[in-house]
Amino acid sequence: FDLSAFNTMGLVSHAQFGAVIAERRQVDEVARFATSSGLPAHFIGGGSNLVLRDELAAIVGVMAIKGRNIERGPDGTVIVTAQAGEDWSEFVGWTVSQGIGGLENLAGIPGTVGAAPIQNIGAYGLELADRFQSLTAWDSVDHKERVFERDECQFSYRQSLFKQAGGRFIVLDVTLALPQEWVPVLSYAGLDNLPADVDAAAVMERVLAIRRSKLPDWHVLGNAGSFFHNPVVQPAVADGIAGVPRYPQPDGRVKLSAAWLIDACGLKGYQEGQAAVHKDHALIIVNRGGATYGDVHKLASTIKHAVEERFGVVLTQEPIEL
Ligand code: EPU
Repeated sequence: FDLSAFNTMGLVSHAQFGAVIAERRQVDEVARFATSSGLPAHFIGGGSNLVLRDELAAIVGVMAIKGRNIERGPDGTVIVTAQAGEDWSEFVGWTVSQGIGGLENLAGIPGTVGAAPIQNIGAYGLELADRFQSLTAWDSVDHKERVFERDECQFSYRQSLFKQAGGRFIVLDVTLALPQEWVPVLSYAGLDNLPADVDAAAVMERVLAIRRSKLPDWHVLGNAGSFFHNPVVQPAVADGIAGVPRYPQPDGRVKLSAAWLIDACGLKGYQEGQAAVHKDHALIIVNRGGATYGDVHKLASTIKHAVEERFGVVLTQEPIEL
């Protein structure tokens, strides 16, 4: 099963078995087939946060279940539900085109609705968790559907219960609660100069413009977005690194810019095989054409070692490896 077209890094990868999943019942079928054949099952969405090995001794289910709808909650809250296989970016555009604000800061993020809660996607001052109400997942251990309310999901920066559970729960649908009274989130640099009477469509356009100016389009230059988390460190560590952008956290620690740390090591444009640190944004590893898993891995280790040696900060990889 050729996965080359199912990962935004554009790595050439083959799984022993694969299935495109258009209906819920197929999730259990794939999981049971995996158990009976002694192989792991991996469920993927848009493949936008993945680093794939060349050969996977596994069965891969590509989540393609479609459907979405909008309801009004009793208090006027807008309740939006989408099935896991909906394209996230297209879904956000659809809500905004319906006159519903609340997701516009998360416009343009590649991937599917079902993958969004796994790493609690976030950008431009907003995280999925800020708008999340609940999700339905298939529990591949207990073989049944299970609903998770927001409090149960253990969302934090690029983290959730689902990421920690290592694939046990396969997200089937996601429900978001969008405020009746829309208030724009304009804290992020580049949004803060929008007029006070801005609407959600204009915020979305600005977010998309910022993304276009900073992030390479994976259709043109394969990539998986940010390759490392922004490290969260004790203030003393941050104090020792002159000039690094710092974002204070509620717990007193400080989030640092990983891009800045990598950039300061002089690694922008650095290449291993056909994998390179993007020339315009040091946090992105790009596939210059024909990069292999080995190239990406080698480059990622070089980056990690350089940053650790120079600054004593350990970077953790954001994309999931299969
Ligand atoms: N910077 C550099 N060198 C560079 C690029 C950036 O020094 O080559 C500095 C910038 O000057 C800026 C800082 O790094 O001060 C932060 O850069 P940016 O605003 O581009 O954000 P980021 O920290 O690199 C994070 C998310 C992105 C998200 C943006 C916007 C993580 C790991 N990444 O990137 O998410 O879109 O903020 O909110 O938290 C993703 O997760 O895949 C992703 C793209």
